[in-house]
Amino acid sequence: MKDRFYVTTPIYYVNDVPHIGHAYTTVAADILARRNRLLGRKVFFLTGTDEHGQKVEKAASEKGRSPQEQADIMVGNFKELWKRLNIAYDAFIRTTDGPHKEVVRELLRRLYDKGEIVKKAYSGWYCTPDERFWTEKDLIDGNCPDCGRPVEEIHEENYFFLMSKYQERLVSSIESNPSYILPETRRNEVLGFLRNNTLGDLCISRPRQRLTWGIPLPFDPDFVTYVWFDALVNYYSATRYLAPGGAEPWWPPDHHLVGKDILTTHAVYWSTMLMALEMPLPENIFAHGWWTVEGRKMSKSLGNVVDPNAMVDKYGVDAFRYFLFREVSFGLDGDFSEEALIRRINTDLANDLGNLLSRFLTMAEKYFGGKINVPTGDSKGSNPFAAECDDVLAPVTYQDDIWENYRHWSNLKFTTILERTWKAISAANNHVAQKEPWKLAENNNKQELERVLFNLWNALRLVAVCLFPFMPTTAEKIWTQLGLKSLVDEVRQSISEVDQYPQVFYWEWRPTYEIKVSKGGHLFPRIEDAVKAVESVKVETGKKEKPKMTEQAEKELLSIADFAKVELKIGRVLSAERVERSDKLIKLRVDIGEERQVVAGIGKVYDPEDLVGKEIVVVANLKPAKLMGVESQGMLLAATDEDGRPSFLTLDREVKPGSKVK
Ligand code: MSP
Repeated sequence: MKDRFYVTTPIYYVNDVPHIGHAYTTVAADILARRNRLLGRKVFFLTGTDEHGQKVEKAASEKGRSPQEQADIMVGNFKELWKRLNIAYDAFIRTTDGPHKEVVRELLRRLYDKGEIVKKAYSGWYCTPDERFWTEKDLIDGNCPDCGRPVEEIHEENYFFLMSKYQERLVSSIESNPSYILPETRRNEVLGFLRNNTLGDLCISRPRQRLTWGIPLPFDPDFVTYVWFDALVNYYSATRYLAPGGAEPWWPPDHHLVGKDILTTHAVYWSTMLMALEMPLPENIFAHGWWTVEGRKMSKSLGNVVDPNAMVDKYGVDAFRYFLFREVSFGLDGDFSEEALIRRINTDLANDLGNLLSRFLTMAEKYFGGKINVPTGDSKGSNPFAAECDDVLAPVTYQDDIWENYRHWSNLKFTTILERTWKAISAANNHVAQKEPWKLAENNNKQELERVLFNLWNALRLVAVCLFPFMPTTAEKIWTQLGLKSLVDEVRQSISEVDQYPQVFYWEWRPTYEIKVSKGGHLFPRIEDAVKAVESVKVETGKKEKPKMTEQAEKELLSIADFAKVELKIGRVLSAERVERSDKLIKLRVDIGEERQVVAGIGKVYDPEDLVGKEIVVVANLKPAKLMGVESQGMLLAATDEDGRPSFLTLDREVKPGSKVK
């Protein structure tokens, strides 16, 4: 196993206060950093701020500050937010740091001396807010194709990095490395763009008379460095002066996490810059989607910008962190609403997880004074519940790197990891329902009662391990209520020399000391007020007089016999792939007792790999139909919300494929 892990966030502009988009990437990086630290790897988690350029200069002058003052003030906001979001970064880089500026100048000089940077006359269309040049044909209705704002025509001499000559090398490098750009849909977009367009050279300077707030070029003091060239170098410069042991052990990074809007600058500008510098490329660039708010783009003018500070104040840091990564698959766009967040808190956190822990602790205290006895000879072979937990959790704990199909962590499948964790929570809740420990107590079946309580204790322990990267405080709380010492210490101390994994990840791990649980406060109290608010709206609508049913409407009601004609069956997805030329359709091979091909219009919300192994509901006796030339032998059932986002129906426990739904 690799013993080091280097992850980065974008460095954020200091022209404005941080919002949910900034929080999203930074929490994602924190999750990866925490997971890797648990595995005993040395981690370098870098975040920071992008402080040069026109945007910051403009924001500063509007506020009557110098750009440096503006940056100093805004850095405080970011650092404060990272503290509140429990972000354990290792270094915070600022592009105005002296050593960073020196590294930028050193790399510019290296490229210039190699003939990779040349001076050329140039004319083009410039978008000031985006700080990007466009060609005439890029423009849409004469405006910036990215932000839609007006552009200015500019003629000037500038320095260019000869990016165009790396086009072919870049294409073959992306082609030969499937995980260089993720998710796959984004990788295909970049490849499509590179195959169908001729790459130009990259203007990496700005004349001093137009912009002073930047790093002077080392070979021409009349120019400052283009802010993106300066900013991208941060990933390397930080290793030189902020990473323990310097650049050598850390380069290249494992993941650059970025939003989809800045994928091109990373996948194309940064990759070719590194090629020209003869430096290894990062292992992976992951582009996540964007958050909208209640279906609308987030913007200052709409007044709907989500302030992460306010969310933490209202709902707590762990609930907010959980929501961001449970609600939407990392890589896809998502919609934020407080209602959805409250729903997740009440259902997943208060109900499924919080109640399980609290019921377990109450029983353990009531029946055994809190003491947990380890049954002798317990193993996954002899304990079906242990086997069930191991089935769902092993792939996201100790099998991740070993099994090709289980690369959930390396592919940043955060939602899948949480879903699997919740499968274990459901299994534990079912275990209580099936075993009815109170009856075992009534019947004095002490041995079985001890066994059930141990099962629950052990399942909750493994759940805490899985939750730690996402919800560190909650995981530690669960851990200590289970009568254990510190989760982080215990996990790290248990790393085995044989398989390199912490033994705490296994069902068979036992502490060396006596286990005595102790009940603490409720992990996540239900948010009753909000529920009342939502429900009162429903009652209001319910109060309206019911319209009389017309004869016509009555005719349209189905008899039970009509309904029985529809054959609904449980299917397990065996494989899934996108239908060519369609971003909506996914072709599934489904086991419904027999194998069927089903085409479903859910591709805008789901990635094919999210569906494999899932249980779905299929209409099994539909006439086959062709969708974009591909035959569909059935239909998958899904609900569609107001935004038209489908959510497919699934089961709360596994059922044999082919089972009837009635
Ligand atoms: N300074 C550059 C990055 C340089 S990296 C070498 C920059 N900064 S930014 O502050 O404008 O944006 C930072 C990140 O916030 C981007 O990854 C962007 O995708 C993300 N987001 C901005 N709005 C967002 C949403 N509404 N939703 C999710 N992420 C969003 O770009």
